[in-house]
Amino acid sequence: MDIFRKKSVEQSIRDTQAPEHQLRKRLTALDLTVFGIGVIVGTGIFVLTGQVAKDTAGPAVAISFVVAGVVCGLAALCYAEFASTIPVAGSAYTFAFATLGEFPAWVIGWDLLLELALAAAVVAVGWAGYFDSMLTSFGVDLPDAISGAHPAVNVPAMIIVAILTTVLALGIKLSSRVNLVLVLTKVAVVLLVIVAGLFFVKGANYTPFIPEAMPEARIEGLRAPLIQLLFGITPVAYGVFGIFAAAAIVFFAFIGFDIVATAAEETINPQRDVPRGIIGSLAICTFLYVAVSLVVVGMQRYSELSTTAPLSDAFIAVGQPWLAAIISVGAIAGLTTVVLVLLLGQTRVLFAMCRDGLLPVWLAKVNPGFGTPARLTVIIGAVTMLLAGFVSFGELAELVNIGTLFAFVVVSIGVIVLRRTRPDLPRAFRAPLVPVLPILSVLACLYLMLNLPALTWLRFVLWMILGVLLYAGFGYWHSRLVARPGKTDGVSA
Ligand code: ALA
Repeated sequence: MDIFRKKSVEQSIRDTQAPEHQLRKRLTALDLTVFGIGVIVGTGIFVLTGQVAKDTAGPAVAISFVVAGVVCGLAALCYAEFASTIPVAGSAYTFAFATLGEFPAWVIGWDLLLELALAAAVVAVGWAGYFDSMLTSFGVDLPDAISGAHPAVNVPAMIIVAILTTVLALGIKLSSRVNLVLVLTKVAVVLLVIVAGLFFVKGANYTPFIPEAMPEARIEGLRAPLIQLLFGITPVAYGVFGIFAAAAIVFFAFIGFDIVATAAEETINPQRDVPRGIIGSLAICTFLYVAVSLVVVGMQRYSELSTTAPLSDAFIAVGQPWLAAIISVGAIAGLTTVVLVLLLGQTRVLFAMCRDGLLPVWLAKVNPGFGTPARLTVIIGAVTMLLAGFVSFGELAELVNIGTLFAFVVVSIGVIVLRRTRPDLPRAFRAPLVPVLPILSVLACLYLMLNLPALTWLRFVLWMILGVLLYAGFGYWHSRLVARPGKTDGVSA
């Protein structure tokens, strides 16, 4: 059994030219940057900033954003090199197929499905929360059964997923236009927070900038971070360790830049523009996060920040409720784009896996009218709707973090492997300091993974076991690498 058979880079690129699987090439560097910002700026900035400042880092949350941004930056350079070398839908999945082989590629694809499906559903639920609070502020109350904190069926979350699925199925350029309008609204609101907030900053709120470290009530059992179970470390709040613990949490706020790589195949000049899109969107978001967090902790004492709507509540606290209302509308726009791009990324990863025969290949047919994998988009939309409507996630969101970090580790290793196995390939973008930079990226990601709860690790391992069984039962036997034994051009052992 050769589970490490590889699909050559040339074969990956040739597959994208088959007429029945051809995606329409329309996107530019600007479109990609907008997509990136669309998925990156979301729950992280609108919700996590307050939560983490209050409980874990104090005003130094801004430093936590820098730390998480640097970890993502290391991985982003690796993603950028890959995307410029293999501009094919599927992101980390495709990169792994070319470097590590079919089984590792399947594992990473399966992992990305977990990350993207859960993230889209979690953010849709968050969107419904903001929507509900906006309706309440206009005096409209939805019945508790379909809205509120613990709805029987989260109808608003299901509706937003349905609308966005339709937009995606109708065409990538349409989605990118809708996204542009929403992203502009979101960025305008974020800039409003920064500029208007500056007028209400009080210097006293910055002292102490790094509050003194305090031991946190020891979290027992499977909820404890794995690093604590392994090394018996007691988690601390605040202090320098607090900054790093907070970085593991606000990592969520950066998730999404990797999804830019999934749109490589639909980009007019992917070798040049995908690296620009990835690095550009990450840099802009890091700047916005640091600025927003500095302003918010300056407006309100960190210990008094709201954990559900910190940005708008900070304006209420300084007596500006109308600014707070504008900010909630911006949050709704912001979360809409996050769900949109997460759904897009998920469709493209699954598309690549079906095209390779690891999942039923008929699913990956591109609709000739729309130029998108409409069938797959509708199926993914339906599953996400069910997840968003009926499942209460809570801590499952941490699974999103572990899944993403795992993908970053594989991509960083992949860069080193591909430099050795295929030094001849043209690389429009080269990550600096290889192999030192990818190794640092792997270590930084592993450190953040260790800070996640043991329960998250357990769930992650269970999902992976399910994936391995599916590969053994279906993917291995239906892979295009075996289905076309006469055509060995794409296979190398
Ligand atoms: N980065 C995205 C967010 O903050 C997932 O919502």
